Amino acid sequence: MEEVIRIEGGHPLNGTIKISGAKNATVALIPASVLGTQPITLSGIPNISDVASLKQCLEYLEVNVSSENNDEIFIDPSHMINKPLNIDAVSKLRASYYFMGALLGKYKHVEIKMPGGCNLGPRPIDLHLKGFEALGARIEYVNDSYIITADRLRGNRIYLDISSVGATINIIMAAVYTEGRTIIENAAREPEIIDIITLLNKMGANIKGAGTNVITIDGVTQLGGCFHEIIPDRSEAGTFMIIAAAMAGHVTLENVIPYHLDALMSKLKESGVHIDAKIDFVDIYSSNNLKAVDLKTAPYPGFATDLQAPLTALLTQAEGKSHITETIYPERFKHCEQLNKMKANTSIKIPTATIIGKTPLVGCDVTATDLRCGAGLVVAGLLAEGVTTIHDIYHIDRGYENLDGKLKEVGAKIWRETI
Ligand code: EPU
Repeated sequence: MEEVIRIEGGHPLNGTIKISGAKNATVALIPASVLGTQPITLSGIPNISDVASLKQCLEYLEVNVSSENNDEIFIDPSHMINKPLNIDAVSKLRASYYFMGALLGKYKHVEIKMPGGCNLGPRPIDLHLKGFEALGARIEYVNDSYIITADRLRGNRIYLDISSVGATINIIMAAVYTEGRTIIENAAREPEIIDIITLLNKMGANIKGAGTNVITIDGVTQLGGCFHEIIPDRSEAGTFMIIAAAMAGHVTLENVIPYHLDALMSKLKESGVHIDAKIDFVDIYSSNNLKAVDLKTAPYPGFATDLQAPLTALLTQAEGKSHITETIYPERFKHCEQLNKMKANTSIKIPTATIIGKTPLVGCDVTATDLRCGAGLVVAGLLAEGVTTIHDIYHIDRGYENLDGKLKEVGAKIWRETI
C-alpha cells in the first residue's frame, strides 16, 4: 500500500495562498530551543514530517513539547536528559545534526547517529566537525554514531572553507556558552541563519554579525526562555511563485518576504513572468511566451539550489535553450530524468542541466526522488496534459505543509490516493 499524489493538469489557478513558516529555520530553531533551561514558544511552525521527527527527538530527550495552536509549539527543556540520540527519527532528516551543536554547547557531550535527509549526492559534515574541534571538542565515530566530547569549550577563530549553512548554525550553537569569543569567518548568510541568531539573542546569547560573512559569538553563562515567530518559508514561496508563473490566472502569495526571493524573481521576470512584489505579499499573473534563461545556483543571496528543480519544470515551457548550473550540489538533477518521462527535453552534463523548450508535458507515473524534485514534479503535473501520478510523496511531506490542499484551494485538480 502506498499513498500517491495525482494531478490532472491544465487547470488555471486563481486566488490567495498563505505561506507557512520556514522549514530550514524551524529545523534549527527546535534544537536551538533546548540550549537554555527555560521554556521557548515557537510560532509559525509548519506542519511537516521533519518537525514531527524533531519532536520525537525532543520527547526522547525528556523535553516537554506541547501545542495549543496548530502552528505554535511550546518547548520546555527544564527536565531534559542528555541521552545518546540513536532513535530512528534522527535518520529521517538531515537537520537532526543540529542536536550536535546544541547538546555539545549545553552539556559538552553528545552521542548521535549519522543524520539522514535527501540524497543530493555527497553531503559531508567535515566543516561542522572541524568547527567543534576548534572549540576544543574530541570526535569519535563508533558504530554509526558520532561521540563528541569536550572538557572545556573555548572561543576560537574559525574560517569555513565553504559558506555552509549547517556548519555555520551548528558552530554558533556549540559556541554560545564557550569561554571567550568565537569568530566564524566566511559564514553563510542565509535568512534562516539570521532567524536562529535572533532566537538565541532573545534567549540571552551575545551573537553579532547575523546576515554577514563574519559572525562573532561572545560566550554567556546562561540562556532563558522567550517567544519567537519563525520567518516565512522562502523555498515554499518560491515554489508557489513558479507554480503561479506556470498556471495563473492571478495568484497572490501572502506571508512572504519578497526580498528573500530577489534572485528567483529576477530570473522569472527575465523569462517573461509578470510579478508584482509588495512589502509582504506578491501577485503573479498569467504569463505566456516564456523565454529560456540561464542561471547558476549560489549561496544566498544568489539563486537558491532548493528552487532549481521547480524552475526546471517551468523552463520546459520556455522557448529556447535554458542552462542551469549547480554550484552547491553538482549532482542535484534527479528530477530531470523524471521530467523527461513526461516528455520534457532535458539533458545533464554535471554540473549543468540543459532544458530545451517548449515541449508539451504528458502525465504519467513519476517518482519524487527528493523533496525539491517532488516540488518540480508537482509543477510539471499541473502543466501536463492528462493525469500525473507522483510516488514517494513522503519526500514532499517532509518539507511542504499541505502542498496539495493549498493548491486545491486555488483551483488545482490534485488529490491523494492509496494504491
Ligand atoms: N559542505 C561540505 N562540508 C560540510 C558542510 C557542507 O563540503 O561540512 C558542502 C556541501 O556538500 C554543499 C555545500 O557545502 O556542497 C553547502 O552545503 P550546506 O552545508 O550549506 O547545506 P546544508 O546545511 O546541508 C541547507 C539546507 C538545504 C539547502 C542547503 C543550501 C537545511 C536543513 N538544509 O543544507 O535544504 O539546499 O542548505 O542552501 O537547512 C532543502 O530544503 O531541500 C534542502 C536540501
